[in-house]
Amino acid sequence: MTEDKNKKTEKTLKINGVRGMNDLLPADAAQWAHLEHVLRDLTRAYGYEFLRTPIVEATAVFQRGIGEVTDIVEKEMYSFEDRLNGEQLTLRPEGTAAIVRSVIENNLIYEGPKRLWYTGPMFRHERPQRGRYRQFHQFGIEALGFAGPDIDAEIILMGQRLWDELGLKGVRLEINSLGQADERAVHRAALVTYFEKNAAQLDEDSQRRLLTNPLRILDSKNLAMQALIEGAPKLLDFLGEASLKHFDAVQALLKANNIPCKINPRLVRGLDYYNLTVFEWVTDELGAQGTIAGGGRYDPLIERMGGKAAPACGWAMGMERVLELMKVSGSLPEAAPGCDIFVLHQGGETLTAAMIIAERLRSAGIDTILFCPPDGQSASFKSQMKKADASGAAYAVIIGPDELAKDEAQIKDLRGTGEQQSVALDKVLDAVIDALVGSSE
Ligand code: HAM
Repeated sequence: MTEDKNKKTEKTLKINGVRGMNDLLPADAAQWAHLEHVLRDLTRAYGYEFLRTPIVEATAVFQRGIGEVTDIVEKEMYSFEDRLNGEQLTLRPEGTAAIVRSVIENNLIYEGPKRLWYTGPMFRHERPQRGRYRQFHQFGIEALGFAGPDIDAEIILMGQRLWDELGLKGVRLEINSLGQADERAVHRAALVTYFEKNAAQLDEDSQRRLLTNPLRILDSKNLAMQALIEGAPKLLDFLGEASLKHFDAVQALLKANNIPCKINPRLVRGLDYYNLTVFEWVTDELGAQGTIAGGGRYDPLIERMGGKAAPACGWAMGMERVLELMKVSGSLPEAAPGCDIFVLHQGGETLTAAMIIAERLRSAGIDTILFCPPDGQSASFKSQMKKADASGAAYAVIIGPDELAKDEAQIKDLRGTGEQQSVALDKVLDAVIDALVGSSE
């Protein structure tokens, strides 16, 4: 008996969502829809085509794409073995490597360059806090097959246009050049010598990085190491003529388009596929998670993923962070208006008539909510009227037994004068259209 009771408790225990993974609640849905709408218009304005890849990829896509010695691949991926065939799979932590996998597999740049965009959930096993989640959403663009600095500048202009469109305040652009692999190798050697000479000042994490990825030491947030990092050899001083020319050209195009930017020689990004231009948009308004978007050029990636070598660049933004910044900037849209019409009835035959009318209104493109009593029986007109008010509807259509007996309905103005008129049932649609058109004039 006790055992049975316990079983029941276990079965009826509340099950919560996974930490760091959030529901999108109805109250916030209109804001996301607004953002998605702006993004669709933006991508169309610049000639970008939509590409959706699966949420799950072979783990190798990210190991090879992002790089083995990165925080994402070392400790943040949700990876698991396919129970049936033992394949190693991963929930995508970002979009770029997967897009490149798809572009190669589907031969998408066979006939020439392509501008692509994507959006969707990404997964990283990070410590959740404001602006940092384990499931978050990115919007990203990838321009594949373009080598010149013009496209670097164009994708940055796109970002600036987006922030303006969304009314974001306090967003700064930081930019750097990572040069080419051989230039980085010489810089890396100089960096290792410098940090080895000062090894006593390195924290544990940086000691480890000295052996694996010394460039990432520059990214350390440890205040005690800032002076040391400040004095480290700068990659920009190791760039060759071609890399500098590319970087200068990007900056000149940005300047010509009135896009202010700050060179940040310490900007290295957390993914290993970049070369030449890298950039981030940052803000002080969101606390510790102030990077709303980032990206750059990643010319080596397509070949590294098994395709024919081709240049590429792009960026991605965190949609949660951008929405949060819109909130701080006071530029979130008002909640979406409610439905147009709320239909009230008293059950039985009045329900049948009300449902037919509601369907007729919807067929004419009028958003209509039909009252459905929570107990499956009926409810007083008074309590239905409260629901009608809360629904945001402009008008109520009321069909009680008295109205039905006369083949009529009442149409009540819920927002203006409160006026009520009787209309023949087969004239309800016309009367509603007249009323809605009249109230929008
Ligand atoms: P990323 O800098 O790793 O770059 O991520 C881009 C943006 O996603 C960040 O700037 C941030 O706004 C958001 N983000 C990242 N992690 C989280 C998180 N845990 N919670 C909330 N938001 C987050 C990339 O992913 C590259 N694929 C960008 C790129 C595209 N580079 C070239 N093309």
